[in-house]
Amino acid sequence: MNPSTAHTKFRFWPRSLATRTAMVVLVGLILVQIAGLTIHALDRIDIQRLALARDMAVRVAGIYRTVVMTPPPSRDAVLSEMRRGPVLEATLGPNRPSEDMPEMPVPLQRLFRVNLSLVPVGGAQYRWKEVVVLGGPAWHRIVFGLHLPEGDWLEVTMAAEPPRPWHSPTFLLAFVLMTIVAAGLTVWAVRRLVAPVQTLAAAAEALGRDVNAPPLPEDGPLEVATAAAAFNTMAARIRRFVQDRTELLTAIGHDLRTPITRLKLRAEFVEDDEQRGKMLADLEELEAMVSATLAFGRDARNTESVSPIDLAELLRTVLDEAGDARPDAVDRLSYDGPAHLTIQARSLSLKRALANLVSNAVTYGGSAHIRLVPPSDGMITILVEDDGPGIRPQDLDRVFEPFQRGESSRNRETGGVGLGLPIARNIVRAHGGDVALANRASGGARATVTLPA
Ligand SMILES: Nc1ncnc2c1ncn2[C@@H]1O[C@H](COP(=O)(O)OP(=O)(O)OP(=O)(O)O)[C@@H](O)[C@H]1O
Ligand SMILES: [Mg+2]
Repeated sequence: MNPSTAHTKFRFWPRSLATRTAMVVLVGLILVQIAGLTIHALDRIDIQRLALARDMAVRVAGIYRTVVMTPPPSRDAVLSEMRRGPVLEATLGPNRPSEDMPEMPVPLQRLFRVNLSLVPVGGAQYRWKEVVVLGGPAWHRIVFGLHLPEGDWLEVTMAAEPPRPWHSPTFLLAFVLMTIVAAGLTVWAVRRLVAPVQTLAAAAEALGRDVNAPPLPEDGPLEVATAAAAFNTMAARIRRFVQDRTELLTAIGHDLRTPITRLKLRAEFVEDDEQRGKMLADLEELEAMVSATLAFGRDARNTESVSPIDLAELLRTVLDEAGDARPDAVDRLSYDGPAHLTIQARSLSLKRALANLVSNAVTYGGSAHIRLVPPSDGMITILVEDDGPGIRPQDLDRVFEPFQRGESSRNRETGGVGLGLPIARNIVRAHGGDVALANRASGGARATVTLPA
């Protein structure tokens, strides 16, 4: 299963680790809250019923006592006085009340019976013979039947209010407050826990741009510290590897210099003028390649520090210097862009990279037009354009490889050895940007440099 199908399958499953973790914890929190609320509600219902049962039992017992103590002829009158509409109704009858109601569940009946028996009614002769409690488990209407000592049945019907487990003004407020605080704490804690993952990603990104990027701090929770240490070890190995290669390159370049110098001396002894001239020219070319190689190695070991520089100023300087080197092209050099633009960069190496691009434009295109585009999406764009023949499409990919030169520039007059573009690309990438070459629709080549703002 590739990530995109996984993504469409769980469309509501967020991609970010922090959001996922927070979601799982919050769902857990909600479940716990629901369970807690249920327990709380059941508990309150129990307590309210207990109080209600007690209250009802006391009232029923009160009515019973009044009835027993009243002489039988006046009992009906007393009872009708006690009536309170549908909430309370009491009658006397010869039969055991049965109505259409079921007997109340035994555990609930016990609640009433216990309370009834606690209420004093006077001497033993006043005790009821038998008690019946009717009503469903919902307690909407409860019918009590009490068998009088004389034989009649006293029937008391009471309507009970349903229990209200949430009826507390502070409870809801406290609950909402608690939930908000818990949710806030969860989000905060998850963010803190996940932050090292983002740091690691940023460090990997920085290492990709610059092998000499500073190491990660190896502190924090155990797993994070271990990951940071592993990452630092890996970065150190990569650095070592790159360094070894560069040192090898410069060592070869360095060691070639002496034999070349010796050969140049020996070439002086060649009798044939033409042969001697050609040999010396070849040796000079070799020497140029060697010094370019050494410069390349120097750049790779670059330890210049990053500081704020005025990019617009730097570009104008590069153009001025190109004009000094090629006075014939001065009218065909131009700068277009803001007067000042400050960025964080290694001034010397960035200047070398841009100078290489400008020198190519002047050498192969006879002109150089620089355009500086202010930051958008966090990136600055620099365009170096010329009006020359451009680059053959099949060469576009190759020109960034070391020692690759276009067919047209094979002759020695143009100087280079084919390291200008690779060096420029190395430098710009070390700054977190990139260089690309393309042909313009109107003819000529265009180098596009992007740099982080
Ligand atoms: N603006 C351009 N127009 C046409 N061709 C170009 C342009 N820029 C570069 N090239 C081609 O790309 C090749 C590689 O350029 P690169 O700068 O790497 O080396 P170079 O200029 O030959 O030598 P140097 O090391 O002195 O810069 C060039 O030889 C040239 O053929
Ligand atoms: Mg060049």
